[in-house]
Amino acid sequence: MYSLTTMKIDPWSSVTYQDYTRLRDEFGIQEFTDDLWKDLPHPHRLLRRGVVFGHRGFEMIHEAILHQKPWAILTGLMPSGRMHLGHKMVIDEVIYYQSIGADIFIAVADIEAFATRGLTLEETMDLAVKEYILNYIALGLKPDRCHIYFQSKNQDVKDLAFLLGRRVNWSQMVATYGFEGTTNMAHIFSPLVQTGDILHVQLEKFGGIRPTLVPVGVDQDPHIRLSRDIAQAHRLYNVIVTKDTKIGVFVKVDENVDALLDNAEKILKKLQFSDLRRITDYKAIYINNAKESDIPHVDEALARSEPRFGGYGFLQPSSTYHRFITGLTGDKMSSSKPESAIFLTDTPQEARKKIMNAKTGGATTLEEQKKFGGKPDECMVYEMWLYHLVEDDTDLKQIFESCKKGELMCGACKKRAAEETEKLLIELQERRKAAVGKMKEYLK
Ligand code: TRP
Ligand code: SF4
Repeated sequence: MYSLTTMKIDPWSSVTYQDYTRLRDEFGIQEFTDDLWKDLPHPHRLLRRGVVFGHRGFEMIHEAILHQKPWAILTGLMPSGRMHLGHKMVIDEVIYYQSIGADIFIAVADIEAFATRGLTLEETMDLAVKEYILNYIALGLKPDRCHIYFQSKNQDVKDLAFLLGRRVNWSQMVATYGFEGTTNMAHIFSPLVQTGDILHVQLEKFGGIRPTLVPVGVDQDPHIRLSRDIAQAHRLYNVIVTKDTKIGVFVKVDENVDALLDNAEKILKKLQFSDLRRITDYKAIYINNAKESDIPHVDEALARSEPRFGGYGFLQPSSTYHRFITGLTGDKMSSSKPESAIFLTDTPQEARKKIMNAKTGGATTLEEQKKFGGKPDECMVYEMWLYHLVEDDTDLKQIFESCKKGELMCGACKKRAAEETEKLLIELQERRKAAVGKMKEYLK
């Protein structure tokens, strides 16, 4: 269990989080440091630019990528309104990860939308297809090793949600989500469905036990913690550093203890650990010649053997968290405030108007701006450049610096940003037309 803190992340509220560093520290999210992405193949701009600011367990993904081992992405979308540029970020990341070898799974959270937003399953289906899936394909998601599914239609996910629920109790749900006596039961169950989404990709039928990355906004962290806890709670083995700084493998269950210890011994020997001490009464094997850095490998090898003993062997899912793009009005980018958001189905004229009206970091007069420069880090137009409109880091830097020096004026800058946005939207429009006929290849 994790400790209760003064802050609570509520995945269903509409607040935006400003202080990402504090959030990270408060919830024990790890910093997404350079060494985690620098040596990946052509790292994505959202990784390079610090938009992805935190993670849990990304080391496992990093290692899988570098050693070309199988791994999977699972993410989800709740189709409760039109798709805007904020929603585009996750799929940009997914498409990048697909290009470097991940199996892709995308959950359409129709059960969650039904439970928490009061939409019918039919309404959700319609929104998901027209707004999200078409755009995903238009943005470049490929059909190979890619599965998009609806929660309400996926029996394996729903079964898992129910079965995994045995290892979570009401107190934990209240502490995590602040549920109350008046919260409806479908809502209460929906985090378990999300856990089902996240963990089902490790079932044999879906590719088996392997590292899984869940790229999300930080509002989803409670679900990630729940899924990681539940995965760990279902393991048959536990690998830890003991008090006398040895590495110990412990059997966590009371059935098949001997067979599980035999199995662990065999696996450890295969991994070249020869100096083992087995204490059956403690349900333990101590490895004398192992280091702490060996733990992940040992743990993974043991996990893979657990299905033979009736376990799931789920590896704890990893996650990354990205900052939210600010709305053009200066507060949250939200489907319910059309002037704050650029929708992927906006006409070029609509988008241009919103950008020309956007809140910038410019000074009050042209004169002042020439003298003191603008403030790109408080500018919604600069965020557009950073998140969506410029690929080349040198070009981005150029915008940043010329703004700061007072060489670039907001009018010209907005005009260019509007032009780039129009180009993007027009191209998407075309590609959506081509995507209509391809839909089936993804929904298999
Ligand atoms: N809860 C997510 C949202 O509100 C949607 C979602 C459902 C999801 N299942 C998921 C996200 C699994 C990540 C992984 O947007
Ligand atoms: Fe923002 Fe561009 Fe104005 Fe700088 S010049 S404050 S980046 S709009």
